[in-house]
Amino acid sequence: MLHEASNGIRYAVAGEGPALLLIHGFPLDHTLWLDQSRGLAGEARVVAIDLRGFGASPRMGHDVLDMERHASDCDLVLDELGIDRAHVVGLSMGGYVALALADLFGHRVASMVLMDTKAAPDDDGAKAGRLAMAERLVTEGRTAVAAGMAGGLLGPAPSLEARARFLTMAESVPYETYVGALMGMRQRPDRTAVVAAFDGPVTVVSGADDGLMSVGDVAEPLAATARNGELVVIDGAGHLPPIEQPVATTDALRRHLERV
Ligand code: MLT
Repeated sequence: MLHEASNGIRYAVAGEGPALLLIHGFPLDHTLWLDQSRGLAGEARVVAIDLRGFGASPRMGHDVLDMERHASDCDLVLDELGIDRAHVVGLSMGGYVALALADLFGHRVASMVLMDTKAAPDDDGAKAGRLAMAERLVTEGRTAVAAGMAGGLLGPAPSLEARARFLTMAESVPYETYVGALMGMRQRPDRTAVVAAFDGPVTVVSGADDGLMSVGDVAEPLAATARNGELVVIDGAGHLPPIEQPVATTDALRRHLERV
């Protein structure tokens, strides 16, 4: 069952223990974390959020879905749950949101798991790619774009279940959310300094076959930037370990909780 915060944001919450906030990527929703939420509910209070515009959370109309707005939504959800500080887990765009949360509401963030994400902003090529994708989306349709993305995001031999779960999420994201999120990611700032200044534990998790943000180019330098950083590589996964290797991803989060 989903709960609703006073800002309309929907979230699932399960379990007791240290608070673990799970933030999904693009174009996904809180169901990305179903296996991890179930797996960790015995040892943590797991909050899996639907970011604004995604899942059951409110739609946005014409607005740009910037990372700062998502971070302030997360801050309010934590506040209303009476959670002063949480261990914050963000996958890809969810990692951009986790870093915005650490930047703007640092008192909320006890530790971070940055999964298949980066602190660097879009370069000019990536910015152009966002516009091209938004254009393709409205001309070719969500189904075609989602099918293309599945090939790029999932590892070389994804299971049927992983492909099905990706498509279920990606094909139910509203068109305006796709566009608003692409514009929001396009304008996000460099948050490398936020990672470097963060004094809690940071676990960087990466699928070994992430073709979008590779272990060598992105995850290793990100883990090295953190003062208290550790790198965990998940074999048999691309950009979406929670649905490609659910058990190994749950174990990685459990290990993170053990070291905080
Ligand atoms: C994601 O998985 O959230 C996105 O691919 C991130 C991005 O496009 O930068």
